[in-house]
Amino acid sequence: MKNLFDLSSLSVEEINAILDRARQFANGEKSDAAKGKVVASLFFEPSTRTQNSYSMAVMRLGGQVITFNSEVSSMKKGETFYDTVKVFEALGCDAAIIRHSENEYYKQLTNIKMPILSGGDGTGNHPTQSLLDLLTIKQEFGKFEGLKVCIVGDIIHSRVAHTDIEVMQRLGMEVYTSGPDEFKEEGFNYIDFDKAVKEMDVIMLLRIQHERLSGEMIMTKEDYNKQFGLNMDRVNAMKPGAIIMHPAPFNRGVEIDDDCVECAKSRIFKQMANGVFVRMAVVERALKG
Ligand code: CP
Repeated sequence: MKNLFDLSSLSVEEINAILDRARQFANGEKSDAAKGKVVASLFFEPSTRTQNSYSMAVMRLGGQVITFNSEVSSMKKGETFYDTVKVFEALGCDAAIIRHSENEYYKQLTNIKMPILSGGDGTGNHPTQSLLDLLTIKQEFGKFEGLKVCIVGDIIHSRVAHTDIEVMQRLGMEVYTSGPDEFKEEGFNYIDFDKAVKEMDVIMLLRIQHERLSGEMIMTKEDYNKQFGLNMDRVNAMKPGAIIMHPAPFNRGVEIDDDCVECAKSRIFKQMANGVFVRMAVVERALKG
């Protein structure tokens, strides 16, 4: 059974195999790996990109999706997370895609027999986001080894940063972080933001995860934008071949200015498009077993 909970338990060969398959899908290859299959889409936290690109991936593979809304479900009558997932297995779903606010939620699901694909767990892992980030970088540079990336912003609350840092280092990238002290995490290379802007191949911006803060952010949004926000002056200081990435959703005027979102160096919407291709690859892998 090909669950996908994280990338740290996949070898570099397995990661490259998923990326190679995703590239085939990006180049127009077709598959009916999900024909006759039904996949449950169980998101216990909000999502626009991950939930809908997984659904698009299942449909592109010829399958069908059941979408669940916890707000109008029997969880409101006290049904547990485990029992809710078990319902979809009992209904005959062939796999489930799950996002949950609890880190390592999947450890509660060891008795579930259908494959489970992560849509993100708390501040822990977001494996398909990292795969689509990797695919975007590979398409741009043709390699990982030796590339310099700086992830900027709310590192401590970001499952994207945690997943990206681990896998990018393993693939031979030089990974740096930057941002305000309140979002810094010990153990990662820190670099001044304006130095990073001039030196990196990839500047990856993050949203401040207000929903995970225990109180108010210390720095004002205006100060954040001044010190760590990407504006066109900073974009113009980037290396000629360097690119801008963001997992999104983004906050215009905070970590990225309006005119940078779709500028020539931005790959933000390319990342979203790649989300469908990597999710086709992981859904196919799960259903093939
Ligand atoms: N990048 C990402 O996970 O976006 P969503 O929260 O919209 O799924």
